[in-house]
Amino acid sequence: METAAQPWQNADIASLTGGTYMAVVQRHHDILIQRLSRHSANYRDPLEEIPWDELDPDRPWLPESLISLYGTAEYAALSAEEKIRLSQVEFVSFCELGLWLEALFIQRLGSHSLAHLYGDTASYHYQLHELREEVGHSLMFLELQQRAQLPFLTPPKLRPRLATWFARIAPEGSAAFWATILIGENVPDQMNRFILRDKTLPAAVLGITQLHSREEARHMAFARVTVQRRSRRLSLVQRRLLSPLMREVMRQFLYTTFFPVPAVYAAAGLDAPQRLARLARQNPHRIRLMNECAEPSREFLRSQGFTV
Ligand SMILES: [Fe+2]
Ligand SMILES: [Fe+2]
Repeated sequence: METAAQPWQNADIASLTGGTYMAVVQRHHDILIQRLSRHSANYRDPLEEIPWDELDPDRPWLPESLISLYGTAEYAALSAEEKIRLSQVEFVSFCELGLWLEALFIQRLGSHSLAHLYGDTASYHYQLHELREEVGHSLMFLELQQRAQLPFLTPPKLRPRLATWFARIAPEGSAAFWATILIGENVPDQMNRFILRDKTLPAAVLGITQLHSREEARHMAFARVTVQRRSRRLSLVQRRLLSPLMREVMRQFLYTTFFPVPAVYAAAGLDAPQRLARLARQNPHRIRLMNECAEPSREFLRSQGFTV
């Protein structure tokens, strides 16, 4: 999907004040919603689109540099087979993160839809497309997990509490809610971009990642414009007050995205999984990757007056 410059990226527009700015944002929002709905209308079922037979069990499913232990002496000492197995389990674990996020999102969007239908029909229309796409992603991730013959690796109780709680209770129409959604979409999307650069990965892995990335580009465009509309209603003081919360949500989310639980290493057949989980958390390469993937979300939230 083409990504036209958004108002927050345009210094002239961002410097407009009050009603003029909101009129520009509203117009941008209306055009964007129509365009997103048009693109989403060409829906293809991921279960049919992914070449599942090309999920090669003898090849890596992630580029090495995206494996949590990459860069450590312990990783270098693994056999070629162990490295491949770890890359496969970590890819499935990364997709399980998507299942968790999408479940939260589907619940929230589903429960608020009726009021929305009458209040803002165009947005409601688009959000039905988004809901359909998220359901498709979750079915796709479950299919992957079953084909990989792996159990769930990170039970919900091991997901960050504040991020889960906040995604459940933050008012649906609020800037903070949509900022949380944006973080949850944008950070994994940065990982997806790295995955897509490696054309040696199995076609099924690239297919899953490409489909997810393509549809998330639309979801993020919607989340950005919604944050933009909502955050203008907040005073500078309110944004400052919300900032520590946003920062903590982001910190917890990054932690669960980049640092696998011990069960991931155990499922890959590695010894001392607890120790490996600790090792990943201290791995400078992993921490650098995490910060790199977080930067676009931080940049956007800063442009909206949040200090993250
Ligand atoms: Fe998704
Ligand atoms: Fe999404």
